[in-house]
Amino acid sequence: MIVNKPPMGFNTWNTFGENINESVIKETADAMVDTGLLDAGYKYLVIDDCWSERERDSVTGKIIPDHIKFPNGMKSVSDYVHSKGLLFGMYSCAGTRTCADYPGSFDHEFLDAETFAEYGADFLKYDYCYRPAHHHGDLLYRRMGMALKACGRDILFSACNWGCDDVEKWIRSTGTHMYRSTGDINDSFPSMRDILFSQIDKLAYSAPGCFNDIDMLTIGMYGKGNVGSAGCNDTDYKTQFAVWCIYSAPLMLGGDIRTFSKETLALVTNKKLIRINQDEEARPAFITNSRIEKDCNGEMKYTVEKGGAKTFVKLLSDNEIAVLFANFDECERKAELYFEDAGIPFASGYGLVMENVFTGESLGVKKDYMSRSLAPHDCECYICKLAK
Ligand code: GLA
Repeated sequence: MIVNKPPMGFNTWNTFGENINESVIKETADAMVDTGLLDAGYKYLVIDDCWSERERDSVTGKIIPDHIKFPNGMKSVSDYVHSKGLLFGMYSCAGTRTCADYPGSFDHEFLDAETFAEYGADFLKYDYCYRPAHHHGDLLYRRMGMALKACGRDILFSACNWGCDDVEKWIRSTGTHMYRSTGDINDSFPSMRDILFSQIDKLAYSAPGCFNDIDMLTIGMYGKGNVGSAGCNDTDYKTQFAVWCIYSAPLMLGGDIRTFSKETLALVTNKKLIRINQDEEARPAFITNSRIEKDCNGEMKYTVEKGGAKTFVKLLSDNEIAVLFANFDECERKAELYFEDAGIPFASGYGLVMENVFTGESLGVKKDYMSRSLAPHDCECYICKLAK
């Protein structure tokens, strides 16, 4: 199967952790359709860890669904998800046990891939806990990659080794379609900020066929759920979504869709941001403003490594350009765009016509230099065209 755009969907882990069951999945499936998320492109509903019994079936060797959480088995859940027009995702692990200590797929890869195909799975998240030390990750992901090719069903292969072991250098060769290039997110602005800064020099590895996955979104969680921390506010979530979009990262929602507010839904279905995310060229964004900036105490610094205000530029297909001004600091900051640094020298006579993706407002033609003053954690994002 060819995965040429960042996958979009929902994953149970951030909100539900081990508290998953048939009702939660069915209600989430209903909500994905009723709220318009499916229409916006969110089509995968993925069940993360903790879905199975603690041990495999002693006769068949198969992993078996927890009979209390999923009394009707997994095929019936999958059938329900499919009946809503969604695609169905499962979870396993390259090691002997999953991260929450359920059976992993080590040495059972082909049997498990067949089992997931029997369930009607369309997606497999594949974790990295309890990996036998004598097996390198590339071999383990390759094994499951082969098993999925043999299983008779198109199953999107989503690796999750947290960016360890120089994964970006070998993961594409194993057949995965997306791979976690960072550690686990929690529902806080610093967690999101650490993740995005850790990816700046890894963005070029993300491309059609296999995308860097910077973890499930925490948008709409407000501190509730399974991944800890105090939560974020709407400004933080706005910037999180804009960053995931300009990074061409998979958009896997992790908040409880059943309780999403109108504002949260409007953010995650913003058509222009999704267009930036899904752009078929999936070019890496670059940062333009490695200039002298003032820190929060008013002191001049040459670039702020992790923090400050940053300006990202991403070339889109159809000669469009996305620009994101974002403030990662705790005080008001100015994000700057030196057009020269984006490849548009003043002498060219060209500038950018800029349309704000949040407000629809057009800034007309801007040239040479511009800046946006941003409240703490806030951002502005534009889709632009070159113009004289
Ligand atoms: C790891 C993964 C998480 C989640 C948990 C489940 O920590 O990185 O995304 O799947 O395991 O136990």
